[in-house]
Amino acid sequence: MNNSNVTAGERSTLLNPHLLLLQTKLTSPNSHSGGRWAVFNPLSRKAAVAVGKDCMPKLVALATELSSSDAERRRHAIAQVSQPYYQSLLDFGIVTAHETTMPPLRSSERRFVGRYHACVHNFDWFDYFDPEWRQKDDYRMQQYQRQSSPPPNFTSMEGELTALPDVDLTSADESLTLLHRVSAVLRWSLGPIGTVPGGPYLWLRRTSPSGGARHPTDGYLVHNGALEGIAAGAYWYDSKRHGLVLLPDVRVSGIQPDEVRLVFTSHVARPMWRYRDPWSYRPMLIDVGHVMETASLVADHFGLAALAIPTPEGMPITKHHMANADVAALSLAASNRRPQVPPPPGEYMQSPSDTSMDGAVITSPFVYFVFRDGELVARSAEGAESELPVSPDAFVLLSHCLPSTRDDRITTRNHLLEHFPGVSAGDLEELERRRILMSRVRAHAAYSATWPWVQHGWYMSLLAHVEGLGLRAYHAVTTAPLAQTTGSGLVRSLLSRRTCRTYSPHPLEPDALNAALQDALATLPESARLDTDVYVWFNAEARRAESNAFFYDWRANRLAYREGRHVCRADIRRLAIGQLWAAAAGSAVLLRTRMGGAEGYIDAITRLGRIGQRICLAATAAGLGVFETPAVKEPVAAELLGHSDSAVDSDIYYFLAVGHSVQIAGDFGAVSA
Ligand SMILES: Cc1cc2nc3c(=O)[nH]c(=O)nc-3n(C[C@H](O)[C@H](O)[C@H](O)COP(=O)(O)O)c2cc1C
Repeated sequence: MNNSNVTAGERSTLLNPHLLLLQTKLTSPNSHSGGRWAVFNPLSRKAAVAVGKDCMPKLVALATELSSSDAERRRHAIAQVSQPYYQSLLDFGIVTAHETTMPPLRSSERRFVGRYHACVHNFDWFDYFDPEWRQKDDYRMQQYQRQSSPPPNFTSMEGELTALPDVDLTSADESLTLLHRVSAVLRWSLGPIGTVPGGPYLWLRRTSPSGGARHPTDGYLVHNGALEGIAAGAYWYDSKRHGLVLLPDVRVSGIQPDEVRLVFTSHVARPMWRYRDPWSYRPMLIDVGHVMETASLVADHFGLAALAIPTPEGMPITKHHMANADVAALSLAASNRRPQVPPPPGEYMQSPSDTSMDGAVITSPFVYFVFRDGELVARSAEGAESELPVSPDAFVLLSHCLPSTRDDRITTRNHLLEHFPGVSAGDLEELERRRILMSRVRAHAAYSATWPWVQHGWYMSLLAHVEGLGLRAYHAVTTAPLAQTTGSGLVRSLLSRRTCRTYSPHPLEPDALNAALQDALATLPESARLDTDVYVWFNAEARRAESNAFFYDWRANRLAYREGRHVCRADIRRLAIGQLWAAAAGSAVLLRTRMGGAEGYIDAITRLGRIGQRICLAATAAGLGVFETPAVKEPVAAELLGHSDSAVDSDIYYFLAVGHSVQIAGDFGAVSA
């Protein structure tokens, strides 16, 4: 249908149900546009600024009306807009001409994480089918470099360093103290083991792979007296100098006297500097999964029992702690004393103490709005009980309470009540209770904490992260050694694993892959593989009549044949966004999990990394090479697996190519800058 000549009466009034209203300053920090709010379309990843400062912007009022279930109300609202304005609504995807062109809002998208997931679904990456992809990538990195240098490879903290003992991976024996064992876990999961040769920058190598060799995963430990010679407290692991630096503001609560809690964090700036898109939060979490699995395997190797648990409660809301964002944790204890399951964390973000008496309030940086049933609904990503429909007056008040660059807007409660007569004291209280407004002291801390994420466009990821941590369901997951590769075999694998992008043309024997997968997966407890499917295709050049598809049967613990179409190398290349080396190996292994709502999102993605790391190490032990990427085109995956589209929307994939490797010195393939 051509929409350019439609009359007001014929206009579609269907509002895109996915729309979000976000703060312009946080969505595009360098924007100097005239509006404080931007309507963001997660499906197209485009934002339109809602013009109008101290009033209800026309676009916000219109979208609210169009979200009504009352067709007459919608028709009346749309009839008021000019033809060019209507056309821009259509072009931008704010309204849609045909119901069928707009996927409905699924229940998982009610929460922010769901909308974030829709935003990164079927993501448009760099096109590796483009023969000039490398030159274009280099050019882009040069542009970034002109603006700012990439962040350093190591994260250091201010404070006195307590050196840790050096413990060789081969020296695991009974006589080691707990401090020595923990020191080994830190060193061999988070420390550097070499550098990637070539390239304009120093890239580190670790026992785990990392997207773009950024290695954002760091860690700190918390103990309550278990480590001899080190006072109870929280300590940053300085991986460059192999030592600990006290983190005085992290709360030490709920830690058993014989337990050492190792918390894995992501230094967001490292991947974000290179990957300025909302999707790249995903590989950052997968990276944590790899490192976490390595840490639990090293812990087992050194006679420690490990339990994977969520992050502890009480993280101070500071720029430092958001720059080094908590993702997951391991609870370690001597193996004759399995770590106790700690109590579920309470409040994730700890407020700074607020002694200010001025009663000023500021709109939270974690607030976003949705349009629903004719209402504008405010929500905070910070908590479950956070939703509140707001009146136009309350919205204008929330706009007024945004932090101002000149700090010239008065936002004390008394002033607000006087100047916004449509908002009552009860309304104000409710806005505060739901964390939509916060005290000025807390808000200052919270806004400065957003900067490490928003400076290169990771605001969507930040909101998903904050909500994901706040709503995370509590699961303690026991860890397990590999079935075969233990002792010196594990040591060799950890030290020799590297990403392989060049494979020999020899076909991979199904038995060889089956044995490697059994090594990786047979010992995994159910809780550690929750909802994860493992699909395999053995690669061949041409299409054949019979299927080359298999899956890992968790119950029988072996690869099993599956019906389906024959998948050839060209299909695999399409699946992995055109990366040629993804299709070069003898087999393609596709891990699939489901997003699991806000409660399970962070854990679902880190789980892919954990299982991926086990496959990397088991395949390395079997003399096979592995390439890994989460850059998978979901519609292609659905097509190759023969799944219907509706089931696919909530799927998250991690792709591994496994085959006989030909390692070439300096082969760093896609890694650039
Ligand atoms: C989550 C994740 C995503 C990755 N994505 C890609 C990718 O898309 N393309 C690629 O060539 N390598 C990818 N890699 C491999 C990294 O580039 C590689 O791990 C890094 O350069 C360090 O080299 P190493 O694994 O040999 O130590 C990825 C690795 C991880 C863990």
